[in-house]
Amino acid sequence: MTFHIGLIGGGNITETHARAARAIPGVEISAINGTNAEKIARLCCEHGGTPYQDFAAFLKHRPIDLVIIGSPSGLHATQGIAAARQGLHVLTEKPIEISTARADILIEAAKQSKVHLGVIFQDRLKPHIRQLKNWVDQGLLGKLLLVDARVKWYRPPEYYASSRWRGTLALDGGGALINQGVHTVDLLLWLLGDVVRVQARTATQLHKIEAEDTAVAILEFASGALGIFHSTTADYPGYPRRVEISGSEGTVILEHDRIIAANLRNTPAATESAALDENQSASTAVVSDFRGHQAVLEDFLQAIQHNRAPACDGLEGRRSIALIESIYCAAKTPDRVVTV
Ligand SMILES: NC(=O)c1ccc[n+]([C@@H]2O[C@H](COP(=O)([O-])OP(=O)(O)OC[C@H]3O[C@@H](n4cnc5c(N)ncnc54)[C@H](O)[C@@H]3O)[C@@H](O)[C@H]2O)c1
Repeated sequence: MTFHIGLIGGGNITETHARAARAIPGVEISAINGTNAEKIARLCCEHGGTPYQDFAAFLKHRPIDLVIIGSPSGLHATQGIAAARQGLHVLTEKPIEISTARADILIEAAKQSKVHLGVIFQDRLKPHIRQLKNWVDQGLLGKLLLVDARVKWYRPPEYYASSRWRGTLALDGGGALINQGVHTVDLLLWLLGDVVRVQARTATQLHKIEAEDTAVAILEFASGALGIFHSTTADYPGYPRRVEISGSEGTVILEHDRIIAANLRNTPAATESAALDENQSASTAVVSDFRGHQAVLEDFLQAIQHNRAPACDGLEGRRSIALIESIYCAAKTPDRVVTV
């Protein structure tokens, strides 16, 4: 069986989507849509497919079985809904959208059209992170007590200047938290469960953007665990994302996508060393090592074939946006905010 894919966006991450798609046998790129004619012509020349600046015409192109959305985050729902209504499966980049209200409309549209909806959170398929998830689920860390998660990244001024939608409330929905921090917010919710209370502060300290370039939050999980979370794009030169999780049975430390310490009372089997991510996410938005995206796409294609949920479906993808909304809300209020 051949899967025909339509790519939406045509910028930085669409290049990663194209390379990931081409690495999978039985996958063909049929069409590429974007507002920048030069970029989509170059992508089609390199990876195949018909270029379309007209989104409606792109949706009518056949054959297409699914679309991968790599446009500005505030367009994901509108474009995903239009694709779903044409009977196309939808795999969208993180975040699912910039608000839960819009995410809900997309989730409902996919349900009504009986198409699969997936959200790209490639961390969920990384080998060490899956290993850590298994340890948590098996109780190897014991009762979860404390998490310290730091996304101290750096983006140069050109990152915002070259794509004017970034750091805007209308199309990015915020800044360092919703764009960069969202990967780790998703990870914390996936590993530790729901958050019930939040205290937070945000600031625009370095970059000339409308939204925050720095966010700090204190999290109270439903399990009783407490957490502290930082996310920034202003920390030169940028450091690997770090997550330290402590439970009653010991501590595990993750750096980027690697377990660098597993100090547990009951020593688990050795972690795999293969297929770790080579992206320099701490300092660039370019995802040149596309294996994480390839794994997400392979999983999504299998989900379609076997009619099962993908690694991160619409409702799972909504969770990080719900918590991010609560963090933004808490940052505007002096007291704690109870999440909904
Ligand atoms: N999973 C990851 O690791 C990862 C990494 C980077 C980006 N992303 C996500 O991918 C999406 C795109 O990010 P990017 O870095 O590729 O951005 P980008 O600016 O490089 O690309 C976005 C493309 O969308 C096109 N576009 C279509 N309609 C537009 C409009 N109305 N206004 C502006 N541009 C429009 C632009 O031509 C541009 O080429 C975002 O949702 C982002 O969060 C995910």
